[in-house]
Amino acid sequence: MSTAQPAVLIDQEELAARIADLAREIRQDSPSGQLHFVCVLKGAFLFLGDLIRAMEGHVTIDFMACSSYGAGTTSSGEVRLSKDLDSGLEGRDVIIVEDIVDTGLTLHYLQEILLARGPRSLRTACLLSKPSRRKIDVKVDYVGFTIEDRFVVGYGLDYDEQYRNLPYIGVLA
Ligand code: IMP
Ligand code: MG
Repeated sequence: MSTAQPAVLIDQEELAARIADLAREIRQDSPSGQLHFVCVLKGAFLFLGDLIRAMEGHVTIDFMACSSYGAGTTSSGEVRLSKDLDSGLEGRDVIIVEDIVDTGLTLHYLQEILLARGPRSLRTACLLSKPSRRKIDVKVDYVGFTIEDRFVVGYGLDYDEQYRNLPYIGVLA
């Protein structure tokens, strides 16, 4: 395990302020009614927690997890669902909550399978986006921060399962 402390890219205050903005924006787009948040594990768990605490009105949550299919493949575009949702999406206003959109392949896959479940609406909120890495044009309705092509950790995001507990977004030296 590395002992190097990642350098700060986005600090706690910036995260909190931007997430409060996103929460307001999402709520303004659906002034009444229940929003159903689908958190993509594991990386988005802190983002979900802070996003829904910054939000007014009725909210429900559910969790799913997926992983790239095949050992060591980052470009196959095949994604496997490793944990499915507990409840259906029919007629619901669903917001996918993701930590980061990189190539876009994971999110594209998730949007396709969730749309097939008949939600009334489906939107996506991502804390971070690296547009220069995109391999597929995927729609992201709410983006916290657009960043350059650097590997980031902290605030839920990991490198080899480490650093998820950092309270800020950092970069490894
Ligand atoms: P995509 O399918 O290439 O868009 O990959 C998205 C997933 O890769 C994210 O949900 C993260 O789990 C992971 N990922 C991509 N970039 C980073 C990074 O900079 N730090 C940590 N995880 C990342
Ligand atoms: Mg992820």
